[in-house]
Amino acid sequence: MAMATMMMSRMMSIPPSSSSPLVTESLSAPSSSSKLPRRTIPGSHGWPLIGPISDRLDYFWFQGPDAFFRSRMEKHNCTVFRTNVPPSFPFFPRSVNPNVIAVVDCKSFSHLFDMEIVEKRDVLVGDFMPSTQFTGDARVCAYLDTSEPKHAQLKKFAIDILKRGSEVWVKQLHANLHKFLDASESDIAKAGSASYSPHLQNFIFNFLTASLVGADPAIDPELAKSGPSNLNTWVALQVLPIMPLRVIQPLEEIFLHSYPYPFALVSGSYQKLYNFIEQHGGEVVRRGVEEFGLSTSEAIHNLIFVLGFNAFGGFSVFLPSLFDAVASDKTGLQARLREEVRKLSDPSTILGFNSVKDMELVNSVVYETLRFNPPVALQYARARKDFELTSHDSVFDIKKGELLCGYQPLAMRDGNIFDEPESFKPDRFVGEGEELLNYLFWSNGPQTGSPSESNKQCAGKDYVTRSASLILANVFQRYDSISGGSGKITAVEKAK
Ligand code: HEM
Repeated sequence: MAMATMMMSRMMSIPPSSSSPLVTESLSAPSSSSKLPRRTIPGSHGWPLIGPISDRLDYFWFQGPDAFFRSRMEKHNCTVFRTNVPPSFPFFPRSVNPNVIAVVDCKSFSHLFDMEIVEKRDVLVGDFMPSTQFTGDARVCAYLDTSEPKHAQLKKFAIDILKRGSEVWVKQLHANLHKFLDASESDIAKAGSASYSPHLQNFIFNFLTASLVGADPAIDPELAKSGPSNLNTWVALQVLPIMPLRVIQPLEEIFLHSYPYPFALVSGSYQKLYNFIEQHGGEVVRRGVEEFGLSTSEAIHNLIFVLGFNAFGGFSVFLPSLFDAVASDKTGLQARLREEVRKLSDPSTILGFNSVKDMELVNSVVYETLRFNPPVALQYARARKDFELTSHDSVFDIKKGELLCGYQPLAMRDGNIFDEPESFKPDRFVGEGEELLNYLFWSNGPQTGSPSESNKQCAGKDYVTRSASLILANVFQRYDSISGGSGKITAVEKAK
């Protein structure tokens, strides 16, 4: 009960968000922000050229993103501060402005979701935008602001694809997951352990293509074989200028972070995927055209982005952290997961989304993984107008046009919201802990929110968490235990 009271008082002071009812209450209540001291945003962008380059070197080389944001938060003793983020000087085709206002606590972060005060036009990965050649010269959904009519058309299309394909999604997830586990078991039998990344990416690519495009990649063996690696390259070329690799400095700075890469390097494989969808994804493309008013090419390019960048990219980052968290656990978590799964499921039927709804611990482990390692670390939004931004302890003036940069890994370790924020606590979201879902932001919105055409929350929000729960439940139907970590499965013990 004490916890619930504490949670409520914390919620009442969170700033506006369109989707959480508790948050909306704080709008009608006298604003607690008015009692907070007004503060000038600390930090600076430094001298032109020198400031951005120095910050860029810290970000990619000397510190890495986590220490970069953490050290500045500590230096300014503030969770809102000015800094620069990559990319910067020298060879970008249009001037990219690296100046941002970083927000790294839950309360200031949540301003990024309020579409009244921020806009999200072309800021998916910051002020830098990869060439639209990567997406057939189209600005796809994720780059559109909610004020652009095309955003509503494309967002509804994405939500519709998921809804219509949900049965196929569950069946394909099940079939391809077990293929992945079979392949990993066979590697363990041969080599003693399995680096599961290639098998996992085949699983993700096959089940997503079958469910989102409505066509099994197996009908085109070349695509089935090269699809995952082609998508990896296509995504990587778009985001290289902002992607920390931290392996081969200073070559990384000179060759990978100094200029954008041309689409020509992947145009052939992109065209093959386009042709595959045009040929075999007729039904979904037709709906895009007839029901959502898109042109055929708009529908296909957006489908490729949703499939390759949003879904394949997102799952390829998220699922390894889920497997690693569970397989490396030494606290007895697996026995508890196994018990819950077997108590609440019938091993003779294929599990569906409904089967995992009541698996509290399974779901909590999924949420905690998303809190502990948010798959998309950075979210950006530009001030639509002048407004007041509130952190837990201060109020700041934001000017129209300024770019806010939310660093999720720190916001998700906000000690004002999460107890023992630096610990992975599998039960964190069980029972009363469910209230904390208001503060789980991996999808660019609270986990209690609903993606719609009037916000920029991930269209796949619920599919992602339910699918991850389904995967865990299937694993613990099949195995008594699974050992591994850091991208490897080293042993499995079959269910007795
Ligand atoms: C683990 C997997 C996924 C992760 C981590 C993820 C994460 C995200 C994030 C963080 C955003 C907001 C980006 C921003 O504006 O800053 C987003 C947007 C989006 N996601 Fe996901 N996503 C995942 C899976 C999916 C799936 C399966 C779909 C399938 C439909 C999807 C469709 C979208 C779309 C269409 C948007 C743009 C929303 C808009 O413009 O309003 N995502 N995703």
